[in-house]
Amino acid sequence: MKRADVLQCQFSNWHNVFRDITFKSRVIDLPSDVTEYLLADGFTLPEGCEDKLQRTGLQNDSNDEVEWDSDKTEVKGPDFSQFNQQIDLAIESLGGAVFPKLNWSAPKDAVWIAMGNTLKCTCPRHIYLLLKSSNFISHDLNYPFDKCVDEPKSHHDIVYQLVLKRWHDINPVGEFRCFVSNNTLIGKCNDSPCICQRQHTSHFPAIHSDKRSICDDIEVFFVDNIQSKFPLSSYVFDVYRLRQNKVYLVDFNPYGPVTDGLLFSWDELLCDKPLGFDFTSQAPIKPVFRFVESEGQIQSNTYQCYAVPQDIVHLTTGEDPIKLIDFLKLKTQNPDDSSTDED
Ligand SMILES: Nc1ncnc2c1ncn2[C@@H]1O[C@H](COP(=O)(O)OP(=O)(O)OP(=O)(O)O)[C@@H](O)[C@H]1O
Ligand SMILES: [Mg+2]
Repeated sequence: MKRADVLQCQFSNWHNVFRDITFKSRVIDLPSDVTEYLLADGFTLPEGCEDKLQRTGLQNDSNDEVEWDSDKTEVKGPDFSQFNQQIDLAIESLGGAVFPKLNWSAPKDAVWIAMGNTLKCTCPRHIYLLLKSSNFISHDLNYPFDKCVDEPKSHHDIVYQLVLKRWHDINPVGEFRCFVSNNTLIGKCNDSPCICQRQHTSHFPAIHSDKRSICDDIEVFFVDNIQSKFPLSSYVFDVYRLRQNKVYLVDFNPYGPVTDGLLFSWDELLCDKPLGFDFTSQAPIKPVFRFVESEGQIQSNTYQCYAVPQDIVHLTTGEDPIKLIDFLKLKTQNPDDSSTDED
């Protein structure tokens, strides 16, 4: 996987060409102070980013507000009013609810912090909360090229962007990830990506009963809309099959371990003897389609481990002994601490 592959998979690099077959979206450049805010430690939400209803409520309430603690100094968040306005306008133009992401990633790991446990956002506040809480977002901002084989790894020339997509209630039964490899050994097999179900930790009986038609729809969609239009020769794309003959493009991802192989391993996908080719008959095997065939194959949810603070994970697993030592020192230095061992 090369830097150019990662760059090509940025949302704004493919969206114009594929806008007719993907969800309606808006892209807003991140001002540098917002990027710095996302990168900084600490967790103060920006001023005035509540939804409109709350904002009017706050103004009306302020007259009869009771001053509970006048000594307390309030920590004020940064003011991104112009950027907030752009977000509000985009949300309005996309029907009132959006799915947020940056150039490559969505804050999927932060869903536990959101109201209602979804990535559905109706105001800038929801978006900041998710972006600030996500390791995937921090990876986009800090190490977008860390798995690339070439240099430079620096990302200072990247224009960071907030992508807002119109919210759709997506049924995971219809989500698939497709792997396209240019390996010349598989020749014509390039017409047929390796496909697997996107939510690979669940068993959906409907996929089993519909597998022929799922593969047909995705192959036709790929040949008609993607194959000759996407500039890379190896890449991963995600689709949503709403119903028979109705497939949408969701995303493009680099062909390499930075992208989750789900039911495929990258050893298989990058192997010299690629999937989808029968070396005895020297003919492509079409299609290679993997899905969870029974309840017994269910794996644990990939994002579950993000639902507790990383410090707690490190302390309880002993993964970071220095952190544990610091924690114990803190406990012994603080004799007034009245908490019991059970705490
Ligand atoms: N417009 C949308 N409305 C609601 N949910 C969405 C929308 N777009 C995507 N999703 C959901 O969020 C999931 C992740 O979306 P997306 O593929 O854009 O994120 P990503 O960060 O690129 O993921 P990955 O790291 O796996 O490539 C999708 O599988 C889908 O379930
Ligand atoms: Mg993606």
